[in-house]
Amino acid sequence: MTDIKILDGNEENLFAITASANYINQALEEAREVDKQLKILQNYDNGILLAATTMSKEDFTTTLLNSKPVFIRHISSFHAIGEINENMTTDEIAAMIMKHNSIIEKNVKVAVQIRKVRGEYYFNPIDLKGKIDELLLEMGSEPEIKEPDYIISVLLDGAKCYIGMSHGMLNVSTWSGGMIHYKKDEVDISRAKYKLLEAISVFKLDLSNVHTALDLGAAPGGWTSVLLEKEIAVTAVDILPMDVRLNKYQNYTNIKGNITELDLPEESFDLLTADISSNPKSTATMINKASRFLKNNGYAIVTVKLMGDKVRRGIKEVKEIYQEVFSIEEVKQLFHNKDEITLLLKKQS
Ligand SMILES: C[S@@+](CC[C@H](N)C(=O)[O-])C[C@H]1O[C@@H](n2cnc3c(N)ncnc32)[C@H](O)[C@@H]1O
Repeated sequence: MTDIKILDGNEENLFAITASANYINQALEEAREVDKQLKILQNYDNGILLAATTMSKEDFTTTLLNSKPVFIRHISSFHAIGEINENMTTDEIAAMIMKHNSIIEKNVKVAVQIRKVRGEYYFNPIDLKGKIDELLLEMGSEPEIKEPDYIISVLLDGAKCYIGMSHGMLNVSTWSGGMIHYKKDEVDISRAKYKLLEAISVFKLDLSNVHTALDLGAAPGGWTSVLLEKEIAVTAVDILPMDVRLNKYQNYTNIKGNITELDLPEESFDLLTADISSNPKSTATMINKASRFLKNNGYAIVTVKLMGDKVRRGIKEVKEIYQEVFSIEEVKQLFHNKDEITLLLKKQS
């Protein structure tokens, strides 16, 4: 069987860092704020960097997690490099990978995340995952996709196979590459709804005490539909028409008009949402004014369009506007965000 090179020492602390391909430079800036000496060994053109940190793996990981990166969606660390050749069966490749992940305790949940970054393969990575899952079951652990205790990460780069294992919470996201996939519903009002679903999940937002929401810039109604399905009463505001399918909900109100001209009781909503794809600074000023309708300490979920070259500076300026009214709880470029980020804000009393 092919030999594996085991990585040790600081000079070869390898990580895969994943971001949106459009914002990989911003992700790299975030990683370099943690480790100025970070070396990029490969920049795959699909938003994945192979990087070597000069810090210990633990220091790099914990400092990066504490810095709450906006653009880095996922990291995975590697402790071995295996070589694959086309004479190997998927059973043999799976055995090679598991040879170096054999310390797993019994009854733990393990996610196997295999990503192909370069090269054509004679096997399907899903079949390889299936073989590793079989070995995990034989070892008494439980293959699991959501909320795993451990993640086995495999990066397939031509003949090289980077192998790593980490605790679930250390990869920034427990989803492979930070990519949350939802089962798409053919009758969705708009695909924008997945942005809100992802924000609620990634920000671990507890909506059990949210009974009323004001959705600004709501048409055609994807976000509104998510909130209504959670039995939250929604007032949806847009100059454009909302999807008529929303009319079946009893606790749904539509105000067709401009957000700037809203006249509603002050401090009457538990949650404010706004997905407005225009100038982020004027949007922030408009949302700040509309925040009078939100209860004190209520949350707001807003998207911020990314514009211009100085993306991170632009975000800082927009955050400063929101901070006149809100505290900034979370900032993330979510998988379902395109040229935008999502903020979780809390209205200051
Ligand atoms: C990206 S779309 C919202 C998509 C929506 N979140 C969904 O899930 O279907 C942005 C919306 O903001 C609305 N909008 C922008 N500025 C507005 C304003 N000043 N008043 C009312 N609506 C506005 C636009 O008409 C547009 O429908």
